[in-house]
Amino acid sequence: MNILVIGSGGREHALAWKINQSPLVDEVWSAPGNPGMHNVGPCFDVKATDLDGLEKLAKQLDPDLIIVGPEQPLADGLADRLRGAGYDVFGPSAAAAQIEASKGFSKDLMAKYDIPTARYQRVKTVEAASAFLDTLEAPYVLKADGLAAGKGVVIAESRADADDAVKTMLDGQFGDASAELVIEEFMQGEEASVFAITDGENFLCLPAAQDHKRAFDGDKGPNTGGMGAYAPAPIMTDALMADVKERVVVPSLKGLAAEDAKFQGVLYIGLMITEEGPKVVEYNCRFGDPECQVLMMGLQGDIVPLLLASSTGGYSARDFAALAPAGGFDPAVTVVMATKGYPEAYEKGSEIQGVETAEQLEGVKVFHAGTDVSPDGALIAVGGRVLNVTATAPTIDEAFQRAYSGVNAIDWPEGFYRSDIGWRVRR
Ligand code: AMP
Ligand code: GLY
Repeated sequence: MNILVIGSGGREHALAWKINQSPLVDEVWSAPGNPGMHNVGPCFDVKATDLDGLEKLAKQLDPDLIIVGPEQPLADGLADRLRGAGYDVFGPSAAAAQIEASKGFSKDLMAKYDIPTARYQRVKTVEAASAFLDTLEAPYVLKADGLAAGKGVVIAESRADADDAVKTMLDGQFGDASAELVIEEFMQGEEASVFAITDGENFLCLPAAQDHKRAFDGDKGPNTGGMGAYAPAPIMTDALMADVKERVVVPSLKGLAAEDAKFQGVLYIGLMITEEGPKVVEYNCRFGDPECQVLMMGLQGDIVPLLLASSTGGYSARDFAALAPAGGFDPAVTVVMATKGYPEAYEKGSEIQGVETAEQLEGVKVFHAGTDVSPDGALIAVGGRVLNVTATAPTIDEAFQRAYSGVNAIDWPEGFYRSDIGWRVRR
């Protein structure tokens, strides 16, 4: 079979790389892809947000499965269009993608189906915001309702900061995405992410991962899309995972189906493990980036049958459960290398050397995100997050060592990375 992967980040490179190892797969195509994905299979120059162009490309290529990486095209209805054109698609409909595209929708869903989360209110005016803030204590959590590229959450330490942030957000800080806000109670605890691969009814959870959202060591600096990740996350014990399945995954999928928004694809559940148990921080309608890189690297067996079954549906619970990739999961770590300045403004075009040297190290693979090839053939940085130096090993400690040996092999003076990925579990 032939598979088309849509997207151009480290997440999509990892997916393309992993599925290309499946004995079921002949070719992996990407749109638009990146220089790393180019080494996996042909890339087609159609952007992930160009829905017309992607539908045309699908008709031209006639893939057996289409995997949509990023959230924006899912929220815009790409999966609906491609399914309408007769293709099997890994990724939810626009209706189901609201679980990420509207924080208000996701909070209302949790309230209606009794899924543990922070107390909240949806607000559209300064007055309504102020009235609800009166019922909370610092710190205050303010969220733009819509998609804001991972930047739409403000944690305000004081009431004055919260009032200012409410005004700025409602005044259009994130455009239409912040015309409505969700204000919620602050939750204390450790975060972990669970990934349920589902046909809307049946599901299988991959090992839980932990991401590092802040730009700098010590969890300091601004929020980013994620500076590194590892899996499995030891905080997610078997007992806790069982609890999350029962109290979060099952009711979320049932609730979505009951709201005419059956979810097919991967439901990413961001959790806060609080003293009162696990609570949902947010849902995403796609794999995490960079969490996907560690999941694809750590999974030993073939994931293609599971992705395909989620896309087609029609499996019995028993047949679906039998699709769990064989061979288990090896501990995996990824360290993001970003251009200096990210997540604020940064220069483009700096040269990167040493990727091949890094990949010669045992257990190391470098996934590309914001890279390009210059006219004279050099690998250059053209994005914020640029490389994901990823490693697996028999133990998590060795995986960290291998990933950082990989980072050290890369010569890129304009890049930076966090040196403390996995600080919670590293010895
Ligand atoms: P979100 O985009 O909703 O995941 O929020 C981004 C980050 O803000 C999360 O990963 C948490 O670190 C933090 N956050 C969001 N909501 C809360 C909350 N209610 N309590 C504490 N931290 C939160
Ligand atoms: N790494 C966080 C995300 O993909 O949303």
